[in-house]
Amino acid sequence: MKAGASAPGKVILFGEHFVVKGIPALAMAVNLRAEALVEEDQKGCYRVESSVEKGELCGDDPRPEPGAQAYAYLARRAGLKGASIALSSRIPPGAGLGSSAATSAAVAGASLFLVGRRGRELKEEARQLAMEGERVFHGKPSGVDVTVAVEGGLVAYRLPTDYRVLPPPRLEGGVLLLADTGVPRSTREAVMRVLERLERRKPVMETVYEAASVLTREAEKALTEGDLAAVGELMDIAQGLLSSIGVSFPQAEALIHEARRRGALGAKITGAGLGGSVIVLVEEDRAPVVEQALLAKGAVRVLRLSPEPRGLVVEGPL
Ligand code: PMV
Repeated sequence: MKAGASAPGKVILFGEHFVVKGIPALAMAVNLRAEALVEEDQKGCYRVESSVEKGELCGDDPRPEPGAQAYAYLARRAGLKGASIALSSRIPPGAGLGSSAATSAAVAGASLFLVGRRGRELKEEARQLAMEGERVFHGKPSGVDVTVAVEGGLVAYRLPTDYRVLPPPRLEGGVLLLADTGVPRSTREAVMRVLERLERRKPVMETVYEAASVLTREAEKALTEGDLAAVGELMDIAQGLLSSIGVSFPQAEALIHEARRRGALGAKITGAGLGGSVIVLVEEDRAPVVEQALLAKGAVRVLRLSPEPRGLVVEGPL
């Protein structure tokens, strides 16, 4: 039997890093999806293939390597006796858009369908299982990426695992851009650096964390009310906080300042930082000018992101 599933990428709007220490984060599913087609067999091996990678896990191999093997591992953990898994994705990897989380959610969703899970139970188990995939990739992820991949929409996420699915953010009249600096990043390393600074400079850093908590609250209000000017200003403040915890970097700063100079409403790093992408909020009529300016300033790609209401979608049997 075969099943297919797809799940969206995400962008963290507010609260990255602070979420690791229990502050709520706001993340939005975006209109780029990853897909998995899983065909069950009884051969004891789990083969993964996409246009960019291949991998296999057989028998009781211990922990998988990050990459294709991690997805194979999810099919085994779901309880399949063997499978071939075909992957495809429109989410660019390494840009902070949660491509591995979306792929893990899709593989988990299709595999769980094949072992008989349905509805809410399937979604909850897919979230747990996709978290296991993310642990292979990132060590100790907060879970915000997989939660958005499974639920879609706008998610307010808080550790341990308390989250609310909010109505999609109201961005009418505005455009949310993602500009990729092309600088490679390691989420694991960035998280470690932030936690080290937190320990070293505890009294002052604690006030930064408190500010981040108030900021997320205000941002939720601004996003649900569609107050674009407020969202933009709060993004600028968030960038200041990210800079003070040590995850800003020159290429991001250059893009952020250029966007502001060209009239953007606000701009900040998204995700782990020290590499990766920035997000920019801009009024619709200014968007083409800002897009061009970001490319001229060295962005390797600029994407227009729109909110995606659908989370994990499973289709089967095929
Ligand atoms: O680099 P990304 O987009 O996967 O986001 C990492 C977000 C952090 O808050 C820094 C880490 C986490 O696990 O939430």
